Amino acid sequence: MNTTPARPTCVSTVRELREAVAGARQVGGTIGLVPTMGALHEGHVSLVRASKAECDFTVVTIFVNPTQFAPSEDLAAYPRALEADLDKLAQVGADLVFTPPESEVYGPAHSTWVEPGNVARSLEGASRPDHFRGVATVVLKLLNMARPDVAFFGQKDYQQVLVVRRMVADLDVPVTIRVCPTVREPDGLAMSSRNAYLSPDARRRAAVLWKSLSAAREMVQEGNRDAKAILARMREVLLSAEGLVIDYAVLVDPESLEPVARVDAQVLAAVAARLEGTRLIDNCMIDPPSSSSPQSPIPNP
Ligand code: PAJ
Repeated sequence: MNTTPARPTCVSTVRELREAVAGARQVGGTIGLVPTMGALHEGHVSLVRASKAECDFTVVTIFVNPTQFAPSEDLAAYPRALEADLDKLAQVGADLVFTPPESEVYGPAHSTWVEPGNVARSLEGASRPDHFRGVATVVLKLLNMARPDVAFFGQKDYQQVLVVRRMVADLDVPVTIRVCPTVREPDGLAMSSRNAYLSPDARRRAAVLWKSLSAAREMVQEGNRDAKAILARMREVLLSAEGLVIDYAVLVDPESLEPVARVDAQVLAAVAARLEGTRLIDNCMIDPPSSSSPQSPIPNP
């Protein structure tokens, strides 16, 4: 018996997208949007599931956004797997897939940008200048194209969530932003389309990112509050992987992303490192034992 579910409708123009969304709205449905760059894995699929649980009609966008890649980065090599993506989206039951060509998103005269403020300057923003300008601009465009009620993002890209939330608040965008927990491989490595670049050996070593975050969490749970000591341990765990180059390992305030000296309240532990030239990131929230706040992803308002 063939149990392969039918593929979702796939459109590539803003006009078709708006027509399909209008059709769903006409029958009283709420619209969920899941923006992605494709090469879908369980992390992406978890966002689609969350959208389906909350909304009546789920739109997934697949667009490798050139404006968030620096000239030196992996835009051309970024994995593209549309056929496999559509099969995964059929399995999970997405209603509509939007796969615009670049010209549909950026016309030849495009010259307007969303310039995020302070929250985009440190961490990823420091390593990747203009990255968040490209992210904020394309996310605002996708929100304007589909006009969803709710849009879904992953905690894995924590700073991206802060940038998107700030933009939505500052520019009065009528959408609710939901954040879903990071989905991990059995050894703790956060799922990422970029993991596919790693050789089998580097893939094994990549588990140190999660190990370093777990070590930080354990130290705090055991009563250690001193950021210097915790960071030293995180770096030690990271550097136990041969050939790994640390970009950053930090303990920061979860809202301002400013470094903390002591873990007296909830902090974000975040790491970025290169292995075989592939840049990997991960993060986790850490609560001091006395704090009553739950160990949760970024709380929804
Ligand atoms: P992409 O890297 O494809 O990720 C799409 C969404 O999936 C993001 O919200 C990301 O945080 C989430 N995601 C990725 N890995 C995850 C994991 N292991 N667990 C849970 N969620 C995960 O992020 C982007 O694309 C782009 O910047 C985009 C927002 C689409 C704008 O171009």
